[in-house]
Amino acid sequence: MKILGIETSCDETAIAIVEGRGNRLKVLKNIVYSQVDIHAEHGGVVPEVAAREHMQKLLPMIEAELSSDGADIDGIAVTAGPGLAPALRTGVEVAKVLAYAWNKPLIGVSHLEGHIYANWLPGEGIWKRWRHRRPKMPFLCLMVSGGHTELVLMENYGIFKRLGETIDDAAGEAFDKVARMLGLGYPGGPKIAKLAEQGRGDAYDFPRGLLDKPGYDFSFSGLKTSVLYTLRNNEDKINDEDFRADIAASFQEAVIDVLVKKTMKAVDEFKPLGVGIAGGVSANRLLRSRMEEEVIGRGLNFYMPEFAYSLDNASMIAGAGYFRLKAGDRSEALDLVVNTNLDFVQ
Ligand code: KG4
Ligand code: ZN
Repeated sequence: MKILGIETSCDETAIAIVEGRGNRLKVLKNIVYSQVDIHAEHGGVVPEVAAREHMQKLLPMIEAELSSDGADIDGIAVTAGPGLAPALRTGVEVAKVLAYAWNKPLIGVSHLEGHIYANWLPGEGIWKRWRHRRPKMPFLCLMVSGGHTELVLMENYGIFKRLGETIDDAAGEAFDKVARMLGLGYPGGPKIAKLAEQGRGDAYDFPRGLLDKPGYDFSFSGLKTSVLYTLRNNEDKINDEDFRADIAASFQEAVIDVLVKKTMKAVDEFKPLGVGIAGGVSANRLLRSRMEEEVIGRGLNFYMPEFAYSLDNASMIAGAGYFRLKAGDRSEALDLVVNTNLDFVQ
């Protein structure tokens, strides 16, 4: 079954064609048009600007990659939420019209469920063979993006349990806010990670929110505030590269320390067979290596998406849609609406 995936929840206009066979996925096309440069001028994503860009780019992208009668696909999957409502609406409306005109099954999927399925997408080069291993279930996935931070236990296809989530800022949001404090611009994650390479992760002992509390919720707002005060108390050093790098490295260390330790606590309690990461922050090299080390050290299978599939893309949406359609789920083409609170957990 070949699925057209459409993703417009934030500042990436993305389409993909993914072929599903059994429980395997193959990416036939994966195209992402990033609006990052446009939003960087504003220091963050402007929803109406994102929607306008999606409107201009989406149909021409589909027209360039698919035959005009839709003969090369068997179904359409579109991100229906969560995300920015005006941005989501453009993708959902285009998907509805195409599903109706081409008479194809349509499924609205959760952006977060999509991120998790990025762990099913094959990689390139040396990862290719490795990637033929699909995550073993129960699969514990740390979903860390710009808007969400959740620890999810996937017991089987379509059966997800949320063990915990952030009670304030998402991990990616914390990266973006600290980057702004340092005048690094948007998106902050990769910029903080780069600056942190020159710094000492133990230079500042920033707070690890909720680390010693029971349960699996996260909190990053105290950390963010602590970074802010440290910067204010050291205003004379704000242009000192060593100081800035130490702040970035210590901040990154605090975030990753909490993410890894909470995930390992869940590993010890729920005893999954596979552990993975997903979402934009899972592109972070230090997070990738720390998680891998801890998970492999416990003798479990570790999974992480290719860098390109950690970030927003439509292959993950097509993948999630494939498994939903395979299970018999459908969205009525004329009834599908955007739901910014769309939840994939029962
Ligand atoms: O999943 P994603 O592309 O979009 C959302 O669904 O939100 O995640 C974007 C987030 C941003 O906050 C960005 O700063 C963060 O992922 N990010 C990173 C890195 N690359 C992207 N955070 C830390 N380290 C990175 N290398
Ligand atoms: Zn995302």
